[in-house]
Amino acid sequence: MHGLGGAKPGHPTTACCCELKQARHVSLLLDRALRDGVEDERPHDPLLFPNSEDIFQRPTPSAVSPVLASPSPQLVSPRELVDAESIPFTQPVDNKQYHGTRSRKERDRQRKKTRRCESRQAAREDAPTRMPATRFNKYVLGAETLRSEQDVSYLRIARGGYVGKRVCDPREVRSVAKLLKKGFTYLAWDGKSPHVLLDAHGRILAILAGHPTDDKWNTVVEEASEAMERARKECKLDDGKVHRRGKFATLARGVSFGGGQTAPSNMGNDAHHEEVLSTLCKNKAIQRLAGFGSSVLSTYAPRVYERMQIRLGALYQADPSLQKNFKNSIYPAASFNFGRETVCYPHTDAANDPCNYCQITALGRYNPRSSAHFVMYDSELIIEFPPGATIFALSAIERHGNTPLEEGETRQSFTQYCAGGLLRWVEAGCRTQIQFQRDDPDGKAAFDRDAEERKKAFIALLSTHEDVVTHD
Ligand SMILES: [Fe+2]
Repeated sequence: MHGLGGAKPGHPTTACCCELKQARHVSLLLDRALRDGVEDERPHDPLLFPNSEDIFQRPTPSAVSPVLASPSPQLVSPRELVDAESIPFTQPVDNKQYHGTRSRKERDRQRKKTRRCESRQAAREDAPTRMPATRFNKYVLGAETLRSEQDVSYLRIARGGYVGKRVCDPREVRSVAKLLKKGFTYLAWDGKSPHVLLDAHGRILAILAGHPTDDKWNTVVEEASEAMERARKECKLDDGKVHRRGKFATLARGVSFGGGQTAPSNMGNDAHHEEVLSTLCKNKAIQRLAGFGSSVLSTYAPRVYERMQIRLGALYQADPSLQKNFKNSIYPAASFNFGRETVCYPHTDAANDPCNYCQITALGRYNPRSSAHFVMYDSELIIEFPPGATIFALSAIERHGNTPLEEGETRQSFTQYCAGGLLRWVEAGCRTQIQFQRDDPDGKAAFDRDAEERKKAFIALLSTHEDVVTHD
């Protein structure tokens, strides 16, 4: 592991002691074979990690917590989510089988036992597919770690922990030279070798995931870029329109919640745009980007992934009209930044879940040495960000953006994320805060009282690198 500081362009920060650790305990991501150092027998997918179509299994109705799915809402502490086996399940018990001569106490005991068994079974079924040992060694144990002085808990997490705090930054794209003058650290990155950036307490601040091991990954990137370009032309959007994140055309699709809505809904796009975006979501190359993102999240942030899986499972069950963008991704929403020159001003995406990683995949044609770096403004870090590479960042709380492109270069990006409002809606018992107050003033008061505790619990869902490699 090494700290961040002082590297200049052309002088890559290098590994001085990346921490290779023995995998000695199974995590949600490691199966017994992997634990014993035995190669997984399953056929390998061209992705770096197993195809997330296999990895992400939407919870079956029986695997959804009654706390979340119940029409009569109850609250659940996020701490309970850390241990999947502690989550109760809805599978109704046929009371008849317990009747007869047994007392009520015995029947209750039997019922609890049955639920525990079902809970364990469901947790096993829903656990992400394990990563083959050789890949785990290379991409998790072998990931380079870099520690910063940043502390996640001091970043902009709003009270209650469901969204970030809004920030107002000047709408300007800052050059590498300007940022270096301010004392930012430069990280040369090949866009392939995984790096994990840690905060002062070892929590994962960002993941430079790279891309799947695939000799033809360039072809996938080309295809995805072309699909985005086609979509941009078909949508006929104004590519020079300035918005909060930058001056480029963009559309979002998926499930979201906020802005005065009374319930989560599919994002509203007009019929033509919806058709174009739907086609884009069916594109195989785009699907691979999405699946890769979901796989990386399950690997590096299993507790965050699990919380999403359970909460969103309950949400989809509560409203079957909600449409996921991709079968192979757990993220409920995606943005297609298909402007020809997609570079972002410094910004946060405050509506996103603050204790969750947003996937950002760069596309297009540009020289990553000189253009379109990924800038983490709070961590004061400039990172080379080659086309086809993926970075995960806490986008709701860490200010981020890009450096400019050079003349004639093009750049697009594909992002996936989860709105914090979706999780709050579910955890408040599938209702808005206003409905909650009206239905149950005492429950709402308790919910508000627990805001700070809840925020700490959400921060605790973020993994340290040690958690990921050892899972003690
Ligand atoms: Fe962003």
